Amino acid sequence: MKNLLLLVIAITIVIEGQAQKPKPNDPDEKKVNSLIARMTLEEKVGQMTQVTLALIAKGSWSNQDGELDDALLKDAVVNHQVGSILNTTAHALSVDTWHKLLTKIQDETKNTRLKIPIIYGLDAIHGQTYTLGATLYPHNIGMAATRNLDLARLVTKAAAKEVRASGVRWNFAPVLDCGRQPLWSRFPETYGEDVFIGKTMGAAVVKAYEEDGLKNPTAVASCMKHYIGYSASRNGKDRTPIYLPEIELREYYLPQFREAVKAGATTIMINSSEINGQPVHANKYLLIDVLRRELGFEGVIVTDWMDIIRLHTWHSVAATPREAVAMAINAGIDMSMVPSDFSFYGLLIEAVNKGEVKMTRIDDAVKRILLLKMKTGLFDNPYPEPAATANFGKPEYQTLALDAAHEAMTLLKNDNNSLPLAKNKKVLVAGPSAQSLSALNGAWSYTWQGKEEDWFPRDSKNILQAITDKIGAANVITTTGKGFDNSMNYDVASLTKAAANADVIVLCIGENSYAESPGNTSDLALEENQVALAKAAYMTGKPVILVLTEGRPKFISNIEPAAKGILMAYWCGKKAAEAIADVLFGDYNPNGILPFSYPRSMGEMVLYDRKPTEDVREVFNDDIHTGYNPLFPFGHGLSYTTFEYGELKLNTTNLKGNEKLSVSITVKNTGKIDGKHTVELYTHDLYASITPNMKRLRAFQKINLKAGETQTVHFVIDSNDLAFVNAQLKTVTEPGDFEVIVGKQKVLFNYQQ
Ligand code: BGC
Repeated sequence: MKNLLLLVIAITIVIEGQAQKPKPNDPDEKKVNSLIARMTLEEKVGQMTQVTLALIAKGSWSNQDGELDDALLKDAVVNHQVGSILNTTAHALSVDTWHKLLTKIQDETKNTRLKIPIIYGLDAIHGQTYTLGATLYPHNIGMAATRNLDLARLVTKAAAKEVRASGVRWNFAPVLDCGRQPLWSRFPETYGEDVFIGKTMGAAVVKAYEEDGLKNPTAVASCMKHYIGYSASRNGKDRTPIYLPEIELREYYLPQFREAVKAGATTIMINSSEINGQPVHANKYLLIDVLRRELGFEGVIVTDWMDIIRLHTWHSVAATPREAVAMAINAGIDMSMVPSDFSFYGLLIEAVNKGEVKMTRIDDAVKRILLLKMKTGLFDNPYPEPAATANFGKPEYQTLALDAAHEAMTLLKNDNNSLPLAKNKKVLVAGPSAQSLSALNGAWSYTWQGKEEDWFPRDSKNILQAITDKIGAANVITTTGKGFDNSMNYDVASLTKAAANADVIVLCIGENSYAESPGNTSDLALEENQVALAKAAYMTGKPVILVLTEGRPKFISNIEPAAKGILMAYWCGKKAAEAIADVLFGDYNPNGILPFSYPRSMGEMVLYDRKPTEDVREVFNDDIHTGYNPLFPFGHGLSYTTFEYGELKLNTTNLKGNEKLSVSITVKNTGKIDGKHTVELYTHDLYASITPNMKRLRAFQKINLKAGETQTVHFVIDSNDLAFVNAQLKTVTEPGDFEVIVGKQKVLFNYQQ
C-alpha cells in the first residue's frame, strides 16, 4: 500500500512537475542536483530570470559603448541572482567590447553565494547580428532557395564560431516557423512554405550549431523558435491571433520541431501569440503533452520577449501579473525573458510561497537551466575563450557568404536570353535598392531593424558599386542616391532622361529592411512609387531587368510582363551585391529555386501543396482562373544552361510495408556552360481519408553538372514519406495509389501495408 502511494506520488510529481528522466550516472546531473539542494528559492527563481542588457547598461537603450552601470549590474546579478542576460542595446558591439562586458558580468557572479555563471543569449539570425565586423549570410528564405543542406551547415558553423568568438554561447536561432503567410513580417526568417525543406534544413542547422559539443569553442546552443504556429497569423500581422486546427498544426507546423529535437536542439523559444484563443505561453497541452512527452524535448523552454506579463496585459487570460507568472510556469516555461525589470522574480517567489507554483516545478526548470550551463562549459570557464576568439572574421567566411548568396540567387524570368548582360553595354542602375545595404541584408543586421548602415562593415558593397566594379565606371549610369528612402531614387523624370544614354536598365526594387512588428504591412502590393519607376523604365523602350531585394514576395504582376529579366535576390547578406552582379553579367550561373509560391495577387495566394478543390473549382466564367496560379511556382528558378531529364524510374510499382522505393532519373546538362541544378521529388496520394495534397515535396538533391555531362540522381523513400495526419490526428500512410513526380514526369505506384 505504502509502495503504491509512493508510486502515485512519484507519478503525480512527474506529471505536474514534468520532471526530466533522471540520468544518475551523468556527472553534470550529479553536480546540478547537489547545487539545487543548496539553493534558496530566491536563487532558483533568479536562475529562471532573463533580463535585457539595457537594464544594466549605462544609459539603458541608448548605450553605445557597452559600458555597464556598476550599481545596476549588482542589482541584477547579486540582488536578483539573474540566470541569463540577452540582447544588445543600440547596435552591434565589437568583439573586444563584448569580451569586456561579459567578463564584467561573470566577475560580478563571483560576488554571489553560489557563483553560478550567467548564460548570455543573442539573436544571430543570419550570421552574428550583434558583433561589428561579423559576416552576414542570406536569411533562411534565401538559404532555402539554395536547396543546399551542406551549404546551410557550413554557414551555420561559421556563424556559430563568430557568436562564440564574441563570448556568447547561446543563439536564438533557427527560426523553424513555416512561411505559409507571405504577409507576415517574419516570412524572410522562415525556410518558406514547405514542411520538408523546413524540417530538413532546420534539423541540419540545429546539428551544425551543436554537434561539435557545446563545450567546444566552435559550437553554440541553438534555440528552436517560435514554438509553435507563430507564422500562421490570420491577418499576417506579427503577434496576432492564430486559429489552427490541430490536424493542420501537426501536418505543417510540428514536423520541423520534431526533427530539430531529434537533431539535438538544447533550447526552445515560445510563440508570443495565441492559438485558438489560448496563448501558447499558457498552453500546457502544447508545452507538456506535445513538446515534452511526445517530442521528448528535455532542454530549456524560454519565453519570448515579455510574454509572461503579457498573459495579463495583452492576452487578458490572467487577471493579475502573479497569476500570469504562475500560469506560464505551471504550463511548463523554464525561463522568463522578462526582460526589462525584475517583476517576474518577485512574483514567482510570491507565487511559490502561496502554493500557486510547486517547488518541484521550480526545481525542474532550474535543473534544465543549470544543465545547459554545464553543457556549454560555463561552469568550467564562464569567460570569453581565446580559442574561440581566433575564429572571428576569418577570410573564408567571405567566400562562404558569396557562395551562399550565389546559390540563393533565383532567376525568375529571362526573356530571349536577355541575361546575362554583356560587360561592354551601358547600364543604367536605378531604383531604391541600388545603393542600399539594408535592403540587401534585411532584419537583424548589426541592429535589430537592420536599417543603420553606419554599423555595416566598411567593405560592404551595394549593387551600384558591385556593378561598377565589374564593368567599369564608364559603363555605368545611375540616377540613385544612397539609402533606400532617398528621394533621388524615385525620380521618374531623371530615370527617363538618363535612360537615353543606356543600353539596358537594371531596376533594383523591393523592400527595405524591417524586423518583427515594425515590418507589419497591410498590403503586399509593390509601392506606387516603385511601380512608377518600372513603368517609366519600360516607356523608354530600353530592356529592363528587375532585381528584387525583398524578404517576402511583393506583388509585381502589373510590372512583370514588360520586364525582360527578373532576378529574385531576397535578403542575401554581406555578398549579396557581388552575387547579383555576377549573375547579371554571367560570371555566375544562377541555380536558386523558389522556396515559396510567388503570388500573383491577394486573391491568388494558393500554396503549391494545395488541396484538390484549390485546383479544381466550379467556374462559370472562363476569365476566372482557378487553381494554383502563382506568378512563379514553388521550385521555379532558371539557369543559363539547360537540363534535360531522362526517364523517371522506380524499382517497383508495388510497394509493400516497410520496403524502400528507389527512384532514379538521369539529368543531362545540354547547354554550353556548367551549372548546378536541384532535382525535386514530389509525391501525390491519389485518394485518402483526408483530402490529399496535390503534391508534397519528399526529397531533393542538388547536383553540379559540367556542360554536356550526365548524372543519375537516386532517391530512396519509404511509406513514412507518404504519410499524412488523419482525422484522429495520427500520422498514417493509407494503402492505395500514389504518384512520384519529378519535373514533368509522373509514375504511378501502389502501396500496401
Ligand atoms: C523575438 C525573438 C527574439 C527575442 C530576443 C523577440 O522580440 O520575437 O525572435 O529572439 O526578441 O531578441
